[in-house]
Amino acid sequence: MAQYRPYPARVQERGYRQTPLILGIESSCDETCAAVVCGRRLLSNAVISSAAEQAKYGGVVPEVASRAHTDAVERVVREALAEAGVRGEQLSAVAVTYGAGLLGALLVGLSFAKAYAYSLGLPLIAVDHIRGHMAAAYLADPALEPPFVTLLASGGHTAVLYTKSYTDFEIMGSTRDDAAGEAFDKAARILGLPYPGGPSVERLAREGEPNIPLPKMFAGGGYDFSYSGLKTAVLNYCHNKEQRGEAYSRADVASSFQHAACSVLAERAVAAAKAKGCRTVAAGGGVIANGYLRELLAKECARAGLRLVLPEKKYCTDNAAMIAAEGLVQYRAKNFAPLTLNACAHIPLGRKGKQ
Ligand code: KG4
Ligand code: ZN
Repeated sequence: MAQYRPYPARVQERGYRQTPLILGIESSCDETCAAVVCGRRLLSNAVISSAAEQAKYGGVVPEVASRAHTDAVERVVREALAEAGVRGEQLSAVAVTYGAGLLGALLVGLSFAKAYAYSLGLPLIAVDHIRGHMAAAYLADPALEPPFVTLLASGGHTAVLYTKSYTDFEIMGSTRDDAAGEAFDKAARILGLPYPGGPSVERLAREGEPNIPLPKMFAGGGYDFSYSGLKTAVLNYCHNKEQRGEAYSRADVASSFQHAACSVLAERAVAAAKAKGCRTVAAGGGVIANGYLRELLAKECARAGLRLVLPEKKYCTDNAAMIAAEGLVQYRAKNFAPLTLNACAHIPLGRKGKQ
């Protein structure tokens, strides 16, 4: 990448403040988000969602998402600053999701962040969305310090990680095929439930019992996951019942699926913490908003004598508070991005932070 003379001189003059004020911007999928943190204290969290519009199409349409971000990004940043009672010039840095996600959607937030940072002479921080999900735990427990084990379960990733330090983690296990969120979304489609799939399955599951035997997804030993077999088992169960003209309870299917999908997550997270001799399990990602999983995690961690750090549900699904939280980590590591920073549709789990 070409060397870029990044910022006006006043960035260098700012020095590094004791308690940084970071603006986070997130636009990787269908939600335009901005938030301000002061250290680990969350001052504001604004979200403008296009989920209702996307629901008409049964999923996220990239072009619809990009247009919605274009409409919303300036408004959402204004809202976040106003709610925080902070003026742009008071900020220490602008942190923005540069990937992974929908390229057009990412570019809206990223372009805005670059222009905003440049106009105010602020440093820009490139945040990997998934690291944002992991950093949500720092807001949930401002005293949280590595090392700890993180359970990550989102629409694109499912993994158990050993967070060694603020900027370094080891992947202990990850999914070999579908991510947990993807499995929820596919199960929702099989059951004819509306987008977004995860919350729809959770709602229906409350009316059923987990009484249908479905395969556990232990892909061999270690801490890896596999969700494609579970999805196929749900599909086969429903098809077989329908072909035979037998009645079945969709709520029981949802409940059984949810139980199978979540119990492996909780078991693996606890086993990983024990293996590392860690006393704390943190969690992040959209699937962690699932109430059944949260209860299971609380139960399993309590039984194993582990402390559980669970971000509130709204900080598990996509939000900018987590981007600002990871921004703070990168700010303290003095890891700033050049204004030539580009969006990135795919970022492999475990790639080192963008320089
Ligand atoms: O973390 P996230 O918001 O976006 C990604 O970075 O992927 O995760 C979205 C995923 C979707 O697959 C969605 O169905 C799932 O998280 N999800 C849930 C729940 N809320 C969102 N899955 C199960 N139960 C929920 N309540
Ligand atoms: Zn996400």
